[in-house]
Amino acid sequence: GNLGGGGYMVIHLKDGTQTTIDYRETAPKAALKDMFIDSSGKFQPKLSQEGATSAGVPGSVAGLLHALEKYGSMKLADVIQPAINLAKDGFPLTYYTAKMFEGNLKEFKKYESSMKVFSKNGKPFEEGDIFKQSDLARSLELIKQKGLDGFYKGKTADLIVEQMKKMNGYISHEDLENYTVIEREPVKGSYKDFEIISMPPSSSGGIALIQMLNILENYEFNKDEWGSSDYYHKLVETMRYTYADRSKHLGDPAFYNVPQNWLISKEYAKEIFKNIKDRAAVSKEVNPGVPPKNESEETTHYSIADKYGNAVSVTTTINAGFGSSVVVDGAGFLLNNEMDDFSAQPGVPNMYGLLGSEANSIQPGKRMLSSMTPAIVLKDNKPFLVVGTPGGSTIITIVLQVIFNCIQFNMNLENAMDAPRIHHQWFPDEIQYERFAFPTDVKNNLVERGHKIGRQRGLGLVESIMIDQSSGVFYGVSDKRGAGLAEGF
Ligand code: GLY
Repeated sequence: GNLGGGGYMVIHLKDGTQTTIDYRETAPKAALKDMFIDSSGKFQPKLSQEGATSAGVPGSVAGLLHALEKYGSMKLADVIQPAINLAKDGFPLTYYTAKMFEGNLKEFKKYESSMKVFSKNGKPFEEGDIFKQSDLARSLELIKQKGLDGFYKGKTADLIVEQMKKMNGYISHEDLENYTVIEREPVKGSYKDFEIISMPPSSSGGIALIQMLNILENYEFNKDEWGSSDYYHKLVETMRYTYADRSKHLGDPAFYNVPQNWLISKEYAKEIFKNIKDRAAVSKEVNPGVPPKNESEETTHYSIADKYGNAVSVTTTINAGFGSSVVVDGAGFLLNNEMDDFSAQPGVPNMYGLLGSEANSIQPGKRMLSSMTPAIVLKDNKPFLVVGTPGGSTIITIVLQVIFNCIQFNMNLENAMDAPRIHHQWFPDEIQYERFAFPTDVKNNLVERGHKIGRQRGLGLVESIMIDQSSGVFYGVSDKRGAGLAEGF
């Protein structure tokens, strides 16, 4: 699903090497800061969220090939063949997947190339139908034969650019040929005895996760506190302040000087902790912090660990469930709608309700800010948790809660993942929550303390592994909220 998208990989190798691969999409060279603003100055979300104008230059193929070449132990021809077979020979659709296609049919109907793939001559697929994708099989075959050039040059590149021309999109041959993967130092933090490594910018995920854990470390939590209004209050205020900082200080580091060291420092977390009161703050009155002058809903996650001590945490996305809903005609894959992750206009929310600023404005070649938070938690320098989730702006708070349930409340992984989740992102100033998160008295107590209770919704599809280093047992858990799989072999 992700050839037309991008992602991030966090890697811990058995020899202690830690690194990350940034294969996030970039803004095309022809992108303009106000490309989604009309002549009357109004933001046009249709342009940033739908169709070819919403697509950034895809990074997934470059990212996965880089990971394989530098860190892999198998040949490209062998690792790609199962995907080619699945595309060529097809597979029976599950009820869940058929319903997902059907749910997006209204969008697919706008694009002939998408209807060709995601419907049976205009009718919805049903459970048990064999889903074959011959164009996709050909695109994969080209990657198998030519590597990077099989996607970023030649036939597939031509098809992408043709699709852009037909639909007033921006991606050019030059954009595709110039796409580069960036290996970055992981962002690192700690919570008590645990070390956390995650994704630095161009994702906001790692910094925000560590910032929240740093704030929470200042509290005492008694072991029975989970689920109380006091527990939720601490969590929500921590999220509120962290997302305020996200809106101001995070963007692609090639274009914006992200004050990373300050944001993840224990000292700054203590300042925020001191500002948190017993009553809920009002988001309108909470501003992003000021760094000291001298300081510079539908993503996919998988977690992997092996018996040698290697661990990899990968989150990858085309943004919305079906990205821009545009299939590249003849190439058989969907294009992302990642341009909506930029801040098109200060103070105007994107698809996830997130606010941004200059740090995340649109510039040619820039990576749009992400919330993806692939993470690895280590204990005594060995992997303890490999974790991540889809969920747009809620990714960071979901990953936080799973980690926190394990390392602060000693839950086993299944309990930690089953537990209902909440989310707050500064604006909208409300707590979103899952079913069963708030018994009536908890809800009433929160309202009394000044919190606004927002909508009930599902939050995330976590895929995670917990490793008990003393027994050598690996616990793989796939979120019951979705249709993923935990597998050992
Ligand atoms: N497209 C969602 C994210 O990267 O945060």
